[in-house]
Amino acid sequence: MISKIRAAITGVSGYVPDYILTNEELSQMVDTSDEWITSRTGIKERRILKGKNKGASAMAIEAVKKLLHKTGTDPQEVDMLLCATVTPDYTFPATANIVSAALGLRQVLSYDINAACSGFIFALATAAQFVETGAYKKVVVVGVDKMSSIIDYSDRTTCVIFGDGAGAVLLEPDQEGYGLLDFKLHSDGTGCKYLHKKAGGSAFPVTIRNFLENQHYVYQEGQAVFKFAVVNMAEVCYEVMQRNGLKAEDVHWLVPHQANKRIIDAAAERMGLPEERVMLNIQKYGNTTAGTIPLCLNDYEQALRRGDNLILAAFGGGFTWGALYLKWKYDGHRS
Ligand code: UT7
Repeated sequence: MISKIRAAITGVSGYVPDYILTNEELSQMVDTSDEWITSRTGIKERRILKGKNKGASAMAIEAVKKLLHKTGTDPQEVDMLLCATVTPDYTFPATANIVSAALGLRQVLSYDINAACSGFIFALATAAQFVETGAYKKVVVVGVDKMSSIIDYSDRTTCVIFGDGAGAVLLEPDQEGYGLLDFKLHSDGTGCKYLHKKAGGSAFPVTIRNFLENQHYVYQEGQAVFKFAVVNMAEVCYEVMQRNGLKAEDVHWLVPHQANKRIIDAAAERMGLPEERVMLNIQKYGNTTAGTIPLCLNDYEQALRRGDNLILAAFGGGFTWGALYLKWKYDGHRS
């Protein structure tokens, strides 16, 4: 019997810039404290990409370069590259194209996906379809954001949360039962008013006036977003478990978007998972938007075992949210 082709992750990598912005340093910039940030979010420090004219692609290139090296993949073999980001280098062309060109991936299908903090899981589910149909054999998915480029560092309600970083995975076909088994993804555009960047798009091109009003920065109504996130991320994880007959003991890892430790704890509680089975690196990187989930996979790669059941879950601007169920394909580090 021929078994279904599934898209399995066969390598992961991550890249964060060197500069560490600590809670202490932020406390000197705005009216905040390490105690407030740690207790409300779980974040201790985040990375910031410094350097003139360095966009998100600079981090994505590093992450994908490492991924290709680790997995022994020749750039010429890559069929497709998807880049999840809300901080593209340019409005167009896609950052995916810039990354592809820099790494010698010529004439591949590459494009960006904009689903904010859910960008990586939306891109992973999209890329998997191309693998499952048999159309493509090696697909790179990179999640990257240079949030520091759209954050107002005089606004204490947003500047403490976000950081810069990138993570990437390689997807390849599998017929042994590993890979992406299910997903449930959602968008609800009524959430736009609570979390957006107003100026700089076609509705409100940047003008001196909206620039002076800081409308080119992230606007977030934190509590409204928190309330929606805490319920919906937990619920979608539970639904994916239910419809795949997974009990808490069957789930080896929850790989959650790292926006706020309290949101992560709520999802783990709904799923019945103890904290040692929840990937967490928010304390080191903060919320890197599309980068959080692959950066978690990269940090925890050594602990992962062939056959582990993973639930990847995210929530973000849009609103967008969802969960993926996948069976991990390999033991420990791929080097
Ligand atoms: O990943 C994308 C999706 N985004 C999210 O998932 C973010 C969801 N939201 C959150 O994580 C939380 O709402 C925040 C971390 C943004 C804020 O935490 P909160 O517990 O909801 O705080 P709050 O907005 O209710 O503010 C409580 C108080 C306020 O002061 P008053 O009005 O009670 O005097 C804020 O002004 O905390 C104040 N505050 C701060 N104080 C010190 C807000 N930010 C800070 C700060 N330092 N950085």
